[in-house]
Amino acid sequence: MSVKDFLPALEASLNDNSFVKLSLGNYKGAEASLKNIYVRKISIKGTEKLSFTYNYKTRDIVKNHDPEKALAEIQKQLGHGFNAATLLTTKFDLKLEKGKLTKTEPSQTELPSLDHDRKKKRLVETEGKFYLYALNVTDDKGNILKNAQDKYRQIDKYVEILGGLIEKIPKGTLHSVVDMGAGKGYLTFALHDYLTNTLNLKLKVTGVEMRPDLVRLCNGIARDSNLANLEFVDGTIQKYDATGASILIALHACDTATDDAILKGISAGASLIVVAPCCHKQIRREMEAGKKQNELEILTRHGIFMERQAEMVTDSLRALILEYFGYSVKVFEFVGGEHTPKNVMIAATKTGKGRSPEILKKIRETKEFFGISSHYLEKLTKI
Ligand SMILES: C[S@@+](CC[C@H](N)C(=O)[O-])C[C@H]1O[C@@H](n2cnc3c(N)ncnc32)[C@H](O)[C@@H]1O
Repeated sequence: MSVKDFLPALEASLNDNSFVKLSLGNYKGAEASLKNIYVRKISIKGTEKLSFTYNYKTRDIVKNHDPEKALAEIQKQLGHGFNAATLLTTKFDLKLEKGKLTKTEPSQTELPSLDHDRKKKRLVETEGKFYLYALNVTDDKGNILKNAQDKYRQIDKYVEILGGLIEKIPKGTLHSVVDMGAGKGYLTFALHDYLTNTLNLKLKVTGVEMRPDLVRLCNGIARDSNLANLEFVDGTIQKYDATGASILIALHACDTATDDAILKGISAGASLIVVAPCCHKQIRREMEAGKKQNELEILTRHGIFMERQAEMVTDSLRALILEYFGYSVKVFEFVGGEHTPKNVMIAATKTGKGRSPEILKKIRETKEFFGISSHYLEKLTKI
């Protein structure tokens, strides 16, 4: 077989119903963060389609195509950047690599289910979870309430992301979690539940919240649920002593409260700092005051764009400052924008000592470019 036989073999496997799955890899094309494409057969309302998962560095995009369009798309992708492909059928495996085609015995002899509506495995169990009932996320039987579907999705996604990050940290180094600006505690409870009951970790989890009514509510629910190692503390992020915290979280804490939380994490030498920033007023004010008549003007002339720029600049500088302090940082969308507009997450994992002069230079240059005299986190960390 030669390379040109790959697409006909794929087409034949679709026609004779022996197709199991296809993956494209070794991407060297123009899209910087695209890594792989995974293709599987699905059935939507009785019609067969090929579902493409475009796997990017920090996200996945799924598109479903009719078989004909799917073949054209695969042909296009193989000619534009993808240099390797693996086709699994129930009759044989076919590998395209370094311009060579290799056919071997099938590694899978059964066809996978085409059920598109397979239930996604949820990480946050709802049955028998009093805290979800008390917080009006479920009814007393564990069914998610209609008006709490988005909230539940957000909680589950959050646990999925944090669980993935926590699993990469050596277990013996983890002692405590501090959730700054815990609010009604949805995420604090869910994380405590996951750490305790799924990962079997006995970490102390503390929610810090400046509204005493919410602290009372959450401590009451924790008590009524007999949850050990979980408490809510009445106070401000700024005054809380986070010494010894292994994981520091702040989700949707307003404006510079996110920076106060990051400072607490850096000072504690936390292994993991995860924040989902809220509003970005401090840098917006700075950018407005220092607005220059340069090419940036077109990007900040309209209020909405100024807001988005301020958000990106604020969080990019936060990421750089965290890198300066020895963290490896990922910024990504937390849940889809249709569920909440506050959906950017910064996840920083401690990897080294930091203090690189190049990063400091980059921070200075970024500020200069955007006309910013000071980022609040820069002031807090005294760099
Ligand atoms: C938008 S809510 C988010 C609650 C929760 N983290 C979540 O994502 O569901 C922000 C919470 O942070 C609290 N908060 C804001 N600034 C704070 C500060 N400086 N110290 C303590 N709590 C703060 C507010 O009272 C509020 O309950």
